[in-house]
Formats: sequence, structure tokens, C-alpha cells
Amino acid sequence: MIDTLPIDIQQTSQSRIGELNLDQLVFGRTFADHMFVADFDGKEWTDLRIVPYGDMAFSPALMPLHYGQAIFEGMKAYKSADGEVLIFRPQENAARLNRSAHRLCMAEIPEDIFLAGLYELLKLDSQWVPQRDNYSLYIRPFMFATDEYIGVSPSKKYRFIIFNCPVGAYYSKPVKVKVETQYVRAAPGGTGAAKCAGNYAASLYPAKLAQEEGYDQLIWTDGAEHKYVEEAGTMNFMFVIDGKLVTPAVSDSILDGITRKSIVQIAKDWGMEVEERKVSIAELIENLENGRLQEAFGAGTAAVVSPISTIGYEGKNFELPEIKADSFANRVKAYLDDIKYGRVEDTHNWIVRL
Ligand code: COI
Repeated sequence: MIDTLPIDIQQTSQSRIGELNLDQLVFGRTFADHMFVADFDGKEWTDLRIVPYGDMAFSPALMPLHYGQAIFEGMKAYKSADGEVLIFRPQENAARLNRSAHRLCMAEIPEDIFLAGLYELLKLDSQWVPQRDNYSLYIRPFMFATDEYIGVSPSKKYRFIIFNCPVGAYYSKPVKVKVETQYVRAAPGGTGAAKCAGNYAASLYPAKLAQEEGYDQLIWTDGAEHKYVEEAGTMNFMFVIDGKLVTPAVSDSILDGITRKSIVQIAKDWGMEVEERKVSIAELIENLENGRLQEAFGAGTAAVVSPISTIGYEGKNFELPEIKADSFANRVKAYLDDIKYGRVEDTHNWIVRL
């Protein structure tokens, strides 16, 4: 645990915790009482503070509103049966945020500021971490440029914020996905591996078209040839083929997902063969047709492990086998949950206890 940094704390006098109704939660629409804020003044991170969650005033010339220097992370905290708050792999998020910052030419934030801000915030908002299976506190660290300037160049100043949302399951049932072969999410040499706002903006229109056709999400294919599958909506894409875990290798167009890498590690721990490599659409379709594709699922922080029921490709829908209780996807989700809620030994030291 990090020793305390000088963080100015202004506690709310009007907590909204009494209004929290876990049965009515919509992902990302309920916000905990406080947020952590820090500003980069062009030289150093200053003015570390925790303040009540609320609006901020900005100039219309704020650079990221025009040119998109904005990056974010998604992470979660859980409450164990005895009321302890457990955070899953926060150092990984701090490191990835800085990789995104590097790609977007933004200031990097020292890990100790990221973690100290996070821990102090969670101490203050610990009541907002739901104590219920499949529920957690979704944590949204993000950073954006704060120069008022509409010339195209890197901003000198930045703001880093963390706020929190209590959440339940992201998808309530297996998802129906369509292999996208016209639009691209990320191109070689682009920003696909960074968690930057623009990647998500560019995904909205093709996702909307797929939703109009009755799909929940897209399977993104590579930007050069549309030959290889890359990600599943906002998640990494994983399969079980002939008992092996197969997933597209991370690249400059595929996000290095923390849930993804945790699942790969668990599969290896369980003695399962794992292949991280390019996966072509042709191979996917062939394995769907010959029945060797046993499972397909998305993996991400928000959706955790999200089984796929149907894959649409060029107007044809391929149904996946029904998800069995002992499927890899179910077993790995249950085991990850056991780690996250503190029910089993955390052999890889993935959990930080508040
Ligand atoms: C996450 O899984 O944390 C994501 O980034 C998805 C988010 C865009 C809802």
C-alpha cells in the first residue's frame, strides 16, 4: 500500500448513498459521492484533491473537445463476505493508462499518484462498493487535455480524474455478434491498443448498423485486409477450439486487456493449451461449420466473461453450442469471481486489499 500523498479531501455533506438501489442499476449511470482530481500544469502534477462528484466548467476551446486528447481506464473493486474492499490488478491499469498517454502524446501520471488517489477515494466511498454476487464498483480513471487552444498540437496541461459507479452484470444473456468486414475499429500503426476516447467514437456508427440488424455487438476485423478477427465490441475475443484456448495476439490494433491476460494465465495454470496468434475469419467459419469451435466469448473489465451465442458473417448466422455449466467460460468466470471477492487464495497477487 502506498503511503499517503498530500491529498486535500473535501467530503460531501450530502451523501447520495441512501438513494442507491442495486436492483435498478443501469451500467454507468449511477455515480458515487466523490471523485479524485489532479492537474498537470505543464511541469508537474499538482493540486491533488478529492471533492464531491459533480460538474466542472470548461472553455469551449478545451482541446480534447476538438482533437480528442482523452484517454481512460476501466477497473473494478469488489466487497468480500466480511466487508473488505478488494481491487483487481490496479497497477495494470495505471501502467496501461500511461501507455495510452504516451501514444496520445499526453503527460504520464506517476503510479503513486494514481494509486494513492484511488485508495483514498475508495476509502471515502467504500459504502458504494456493492456487497452482492456479480456486483462491483466500476472505477473510471481518465485524463484529458486542458489547454484552451484550437491549434493542432499536444496540450501542455492535463487533468486526471477518477470517479466510481456501482454496477451489476453488463450483459444479462449471451450476445449475438456480427463479423464486421466494411468498417474498421483500428488500423496498423493507429491507436487501437490505446484506450482513447476516439476509438470508441469511431465504433458507434458500425455498431448501430449491426444493432439495426438484430446483433448486440460487432466482431472487429483487421484494418488492412478484414481477414483476421481482432476484438469483440468493447472486449477481447476468445475461443475454445478442440479444448485449446485461442485468442488474437495483442498488437498495435488490439487492446492489451487485463481480463484477457488474467484468463490466459488461469488457463495456463489449469494446464490448458493456449494459443495467442492471428485468427482468420476463414478459420473461425471453418471451425463453426465443423463443430470444432466449442466456445466463443468476450473478455473485458465491464462485461467480465461474456459468452457469445451467435456469430453472423456475410448474412449467415452461426449458432454456437449452448453454454454448459462446466464450460471453460463459466469455470473461468467463477474462478475469477472467487479471486475478486476474496473466496480463494490469490496466488498471483492480483488483489489489493484496501
Ligand atoms: C471496460 O471493459 O472497462 C471497457 O472499457 C468497456 C467500457 C467502454 C464500457
